[in-house]
Amino acid sequence: MKAIYYENYGGPEVLKYGEMPEPKVGPDSVLIEVAAASVNPVDWKITAGYLDQVLYSKFPIIPGWDAAGTVVTTGPAVRGIKEGDEVYGYVRLDFVHPGTFAEKIAAPARTVALKPKNLSFTEAACVPLAGLTAYQGLVEALAVRKGETVFISGGAGGVGTFAIQIAKALGLKVIASASPHNHDFISSLGAEAVTYGNSLIDEIKAKAPSGIDGFFDLSGGPDGHKPVELLKDQSRVASITDTTVQQYGGKYLFVRPSVEDLNALTRLIEEGKVRPIVTESFPLSNAADAFSSNMSGHTRGKIAIVMK
Ligand SMILES: NC(=O)c1ccc[n+]([C@@H]2O[C@H](COP(=O)([O-])OP(=O)(O)OC[C@H]3O[C@@H](n4cnc5c(N)ncnc54)[C@H](OP(=O)(O)O)[C@@H]3O)[C@@H](O)[C@H]2O)c1
Repeated sequence: MKAIYYENYGGPEVLKYGEMPEPKVGPDSVLIEVAAASVNPVDWKITAGYLDQVLYSKFPIIPGWDAAGTVVTTGPAVRGIKEGDEVYGYVRLDFVHPGTFAEKIAAPARTVALKPKNLSFTEAACVPLAGLTAYQGLVEALAVRKGETVFISGGAGGVGTFAIQIAKALGLKVIASASPHNHDFISSLGAEAVTYGNSLIDEIKAKAPSGIDGFFDLSGGPDGHKPVELLKDQSRVASITDTTVQQYGGKYLFVRPSVEDLNALTRLIEEGKVRPIVTESFPLSNAADAFSSNMSGHTRGKIAIVMK
């Protein structure tokens, strides 16, 4: 099968496009013919070796944790998924070796769900990792309630675009930060836009004079924790970029595969309350360009990788 793979850590230049052996399908896995994948910052961070201390890596590595496609076969212990099902998933294992930037992937059944009927494969592949992060951050880590006000830092990116829409669907007032050229964009998703930088705190205060109930930190950075001062309860901060958040009472979140949460996202998508925003799409052979684009730090919505 055709795949993207690399044999040593590095930048986009280490990615090779070529033949790799088809994956073996373990008892609890399903073999998916991948129609599309999507790029997440973690893909190029792993490729650069930044996660080497926490994830065992077996080279050659096929990058990618998001996939959408059709089930070809199922392992003998799998129940509830059958050949021909159209599925999507956040296919993270506790090690890196076989990823989703390939024509086929053997995915543990615990990582995949039926894809939303109203999405193409390309759109569906852009949901799992970023959508689950947004969902688990708001629902679990922040335990948001209808009527509350949440501030989301980094509203225009992959996770941010899902977080804004999910928060709106849950009945929250949403304030989100982005560069000025993205203000109309995140407003169209339901956020009240503010600009990150020196005026951030004053801009949030102007929109929420009595303070905020939750702070979902998607961007980190040296001043990333500042909005904590606006929280009514200082423990209601969740970060996906800053592990030190725990030192001041907040929660660090590392997204986990969950069929239950994917099904919750599917419902929101099929009800028309949440949609993936796919702004760029690259053929599998051009995955290096997709990495480079995301490494700019200014991706709007999501970047897809399409197999055919
Ligand atoms: N812990 C986890 O489980 C987990 C899960 C998913 C992602 N992450 C991490 O979370 C971060 C965001 O992920 P993503 O997929 O959303 O990335 P992304 O799609 O690449 O998002 C980039 C966005 O960040 C915005 N941005 C850049 N600097 C900013 C700043 N100082 N303040 C506010 N926004 C800023 C940009 O907006 P403008 O163009 O408007 O500047 C851009 O839209 C990444 O570091 C990723 O590795 C962690």
